[in-house]
Amino acid sequence: MLGYAPPALKRVYIKTYGCQMNERDSEAVASLLIQRGYRLARTERDADVILLNTCSVRDLAEQKAIGKMNLLGQMKKKRPEVVLGYLGCMAQSRGATLTQQQPVVDLVVGTQRFHHVPDYLDKIFADRAAAADQYDAELKAIVDVAEEAGSESTIRDHVIGTNGDRQVTGFVSIMQGCEMFCSFCIVPYTRGAERSRSIGEIEAEVERLVASGVKEVTLLGQIVTSYGRKTIPKKAGKSAFVQLLEAVNDVPGLERIRFTSPHPKGFGDDLVQAYRDLPKLCEHAHLPVQSGSDRILKAMGRGYSRDWFLKIVEKLRAARPGIAITTDIIVGYPGETAEDFAATEELMRVVEFDQAYIFKYSPRRDTPAAELPDDVPTDEKERRNQVLLELLNAGLDRKHAAMVGKTVEILVEGRSAKGGKRMLGRTRRNDIVVFDGSERQKGELLTVKITGSTTTTLYGEPVIKL
Ligand code: SAH
Ligand code: SF4
Ligand code: F3S
Repeated sequence: MLGYAPPALKRVYIKTYGCQMNERDSEAVASLLIQRGYRLARTERDADVILLNTCSVRDLAEQKAIGKMNLLGQMKKKRPEVVLGYLGCMAQSRGATLTQQQPVVDLVVGTQRFHHVPDYLDKIFADRAAAADQYDAELKAIVDVAEEAGSESTIRDHVIGTNGDRQVTGFVSIMQGCEMFCSFCIVPYTRGAERSRSIGEIEAEVERLVASGVKEVTLLGQIVTSYGRKTIPKKAGKSAFVQLLEAVNDVPGLERIRFTSPHPKGFGDDLVQAYRDLPKLCEHAHLPVQSGSDRILKAMGRGYSRDWFLKIVEKLRAARPGIAITTDIIVGYPGETAEDFAATEELMRVVEFDQAYIFKYSPRRDTPAAELPDDVPTDEKERRNQVLLELLNAGLDRKHAAMVGKTVEILVEGRSAKGGKRMLGRTRRNDIVVFDGSERQKGELLTVKITGSTTTTLYGEPVIKL
């Protein structure tokens, strides 16, 4: 073991790119590593192991991680003992090509094999120790991007409670994979087939989180509205997903339920009704529309029309007046004409989304759309992006200003990033509210009066209840 500390003393730093699924996966890996005796490093500089949990959804997301790994490779010249690894969606879809292109990489673990990370790190450290006194020993990188039955149930452990930090909100992975194969999207290839955990397993995890102080859970999956559709039969006309929402709603001590990402097609009448019936389900629905043009929606293989989408919005607003509706939009899909784009712009004006994530189309390997010419020029994509952003921001300014003077309930999540005495909470509609308060209020449901607003944030004062 010359020159090497035993793995138990090693410190790991995980940097996460991409969506909430990835954040959750990183947390589960961190928890498994802690159980194995590893420690979490506060910064890369303190770390013996640096893992990048990657995203492939757009080229930019991949380039960021690859660029970061290049920088870490520079650092490794000075600290050759550092272990570098890739996890997540890019690890899954690029596999061994990553280690060929970046020989500094020691470990590549795909999306169905996260839970083997502690074993692989142990092995890397053991092999290095054994090789330390062997002249010119060559150590090969470990690449594991296999599929594994049952892996959906391995994203289960939380760091909450193990690092002494009280956490107010928690993510719960309910399913993995997606089989929609929207023409532009790489996710079905990086996350594999749809696989769902059981309702009982998820309920038990939510109960554990609540016992550790969590007040709000977000149920996660690449397409949560497809949850359990192959394994859990409908009951009284209710889909497996709605049955799950009902079960989670019954967990005592839990205050709020959110979920992401759903597919608009999954908003059947049973789910709309759930917004009426389940008091813990927050009045927020993320409905990724992608485009307002029927022609483009069809080319994307989304399975709904503009009118059908607008009907869902209407039904949800009727079921829960005041519900926040948020969305994702892609501009510059192959063949998107000025007319198609105008239809998206028009849809945004009609719906007045409460938030929209607007993306410039990026061709992804393996996807059907990547076969089509990426024919909307970059500066035109940029222009369309700007037009929608300005429209969105003008709407948000107006909506937020209209909140001033109103009283809302927030769940206090912790200190605001801006520091000082500023605390941050969220309304049930998912608006961020910043107020002067104290750390003691973390985890409380507070009534606040809104006193000011910007495009992104509301400012408030706690209302003293007599
Ligand atoms: N499961 C979610 C989407 C996950 S990806 C859903 O069906 O809505 C998040 C968002 O990234 C998508 O909604 C889409 O707007 C965007 N996106 C996906 N692939 C993209 C691509 N090739 N180019 C640009 N944006 C893309
Ligand atoms: Fe991708 Fe979402 Fe379509 Fe699945 S439903 S293929 S994750 S955009
Ligand atoms: Fe990215 Fe994978 Fe999430 S591609 S968006 S990290 S599911």
